[in-house]
Amino acid sequence: MSKPKVTPDFAAQNGLDPANMPRHIAIIMDGNGRWAKSRGLPRVAGHKLGVDSVRAATKTCGKLGVEVLTLYAFSTENWLRPKDEVSELMRLLSWTLKREVSELDKNNVRLRASGRLDGLPKPVQDELSRGIEKLKGNTGLILNLALNYGSRQEIVDAVNALIREGAKEVDEAAIARRLYTAEFPDPDLVIRTSGEMRLSNFLLWQAAYAELYITPVLWPDFREQQLVDAVLDYQKRHRRFGGI
Ligand code: FPP
Repeated sequence: MSKPKVTPDFAAQNGLDPANMPRHIAIIMDGNGRWAKSRGLPRVAGHKLGVDSVRAATKTCGKLGVEVLTLYAFSTENWLRPKDEVSELMRLLSWTLKREVSELDKNNVRLRASGRLDGLPKPVQDELSRGIEKLKGNTGLILNLALNYGSRQEIVDAVNALIREGAKEVDEAAIARRLYTAEFPDPDLVIRTSGEMRLSNFLLWQAAYAELYITPVLWPDFREQQLVDAVLDYQKRHRRFGGI
């Protein structure tokens, strides 16, 4: 995998150490509904503004030289939401993918998706395939959308793939190679907005040694400065990976 590069001026302006950037940032984007409710707006208004935060996170990660940004956009549990909200979210996803692909291209971004993608509505699947194809020659940030994603399901899918291949026994490397995220390094930093202290079935395997950063800021308000603050906090941590 070619390595995106940090913009030195951007790092310097923000007091960031360019030699200690997370390679993979994963975000649980939470709080869209509460953002809308507190303003007397329908929940979908929060999701719509959340798209602006997605754009900001993608651009900022590009400037930070981050290799992979994984965004938890729709979980396997999110199907339990009211039908109208689910269909609005799916429409928003396919529109956004369609509208943003050329901007992503200008920013040298590649696109990936992690999850049981065949369970998504056809228009979302189609826009994803088109986007992945159009951006495949780029060399910068990989934007990985977790869609119809559940970490336990992912591990089950990996083990079933191994069984189909005839495995009698598995090890960590064999499972890791069959996760949806096999081509990426594990996340170094997992961010959750809106103050909830949970992983909610997100990257349970991959985040084994990730640094966690939880902020009360709601996702629609999480922009460049808030992401820089999370990385500044990450750079203060002493990662031990179980050692001393
Ligand atoms: C969580 O807020 C947000 C989601 C489940 C959806 C996230 C989707 C987007 C930001 C839009 C599209 C994304 C992309 C990648 C184009 P919530 O509804 O759970 O908020 P609440 O906890 O306050 O109710």
